Order: sequence, then C-alpha cells, then structure tokens
Amino acid sequence: MKTLVIANWKCNPTTLQGVKLLVDAIKSKVKGIKRVEVVICPPFVYLSHLLFSTSKLRLGAQDVFWENKGAYTGEVSPDMLKDLGCQYVIVGHSERRSFFGETDEMVNKKVKAAILAGLRPILSVGESLEEREKGKMGNVLKKQITSAFNNVSRSKFQVSGLVIAYEPIWAIGSGKACSPDEAMGAGIFLRRCLGALYSRALAESIPIVYGGSVKASNAASYITQARLQGLLVGGASLDIEEFVKIVKSVSEI
Ligand code: PGA
Repeated sequence: MKTLVIANWKCNPTTLQGVKLLVDAIKSKVKGIKRVEVVICPPFVYLSHLLFSTSKLRLGAQDVFWENKGAYTGEVSPDMLKDLGCQYVIVGHSERRSFFGETDEMVNKKVKAAILAGLRPILSVGESLEEREKGKMGNVLKKQITSAFNNVSRSKFQVSGLVIAYEPIWAIGSGKACSPDEAMGAGIFLRRCLGALYSRALAESIPIVYGGSVKASNAASYITQARLQGLLVGGASLDIEEFVKIVKSVSEI
C-alpha cells in the first residue's frame, strides 16, 4: 500500500494563478518520488482546472453532497466530482461539522453517495480537547465511525475504497500536533472499531491517516512510530517547500 499524503487547501488560494503556481511547483518537485500517493484537494471551483491524468498527483474534493442532481442550490454532487476526474473526497471534516452544522447522519449520506459514484471517501474523525480531557475520546470516535459507515455494506467493493483521517480537533491549525504515541493509540482504537464492523481482512485494508498541524519535522513520525498509513496536511500543504519536504520524508521510509 502506498503512503497517502493528502493536501487539504481549505478555502485557499484566492486566485487561479495562485493555484497554478502551487500545482506546477508540486508536480515538478514530486516527480521522481516513489511509494507515495499525493492527493490534492483544492476548493471546488478549481477542480476543473486541474487535470492530473499524466502526473503522479491525484485529485480530491473537500466535500460532496449526497444527491446526484436536482433542486439543491449551491451543492456539488458525487457524479460531478467523478466527471471532473476526482478520485477522493474528504467527508465530515471538523470545520464542516462545526461551521456548517454537519451531523453524523449527513456524513453517512455523503459517504454512501461518494462510494456509489466511485469516489474514495476520506472520513475525517476526531475529538475536541474537552472530550479528550473528559475521557470521552473513545466514545466520540466510535460513534463517528459507526454512524458514518451505517449501511455501508460488508462487500469488498464498498469498503476497499475507504480512508479514515484521524484529526483531533485541538490539533488542527493549532500548531499543537498530536504526539506519535497518541496518534498510534487512536489508530489502534479506530482499527478495532472497523474490526467490529467488517471482516478482519477488510478492516486492515482501510488506510488510517493522521491530520492536525503536520509539518516536515513531524511527518515521518506518524508513519514510523504511530504506524499509520498516511497524512492529511492543511496549512503546510500551501507552502511548497514544506509540503515537498513532507512528501519526501515519508517516501524515504
Ligand atoms: P492543519 O489542518 O494541517 O492546518 O492543522 C489539517 C486539516 O484540517 O485537515
């Protein structure tokens, strides 16, 4: 399995020129890098400008709606993303849950719709600082996983495309990354939750990546020490040098 490095650009950059600069630089600098799958998740409006068919990069979206078409002003559907060449889509990011009121039920609909369209959903889960301090982390993660995958069948076809991103809310954009030991504990727990839903072989085939203040200096530790299968990078993915260092550091493992 290749190590995943997912770039979540969030609501950046603000111009198409900025996007092209970033992508061209990343494309040329990651060219010869092996054993890593780099997924770029730009804002929706830039997706159609980014065709990665001949490069090492993969395209992902930051969100998706659960219906494919109809009277849903402002929404972007799974089939539209697929048609533009997306292979991945982030679902249930904590910023969507907190700023836009996304519930576990909505996340579940999005996960199912993404799978049906042939997209790989990257399900983002994670606890707040308060939940962690009150010892509720396990319950929160279990509920998020179980409800997101409600009615996602045990078939290999449905499960083999899933990706889990463990992103503790307190670590996102805070500069306070989760320690590799803490991330390893969360990874083991999440894998146990998956094992309760799916066969052992299927549960083990689902990559679990870490997200939250990833930078070049800590990136490799989540693979070597925490034994996770990749990274979801926010802020640092907008800094070309830093992002390329992250990709290189995990490719050399
Ligand atoms: P960060 O964001 O790397 O800026 O902490 C990660 C994320 O929100 O996906």
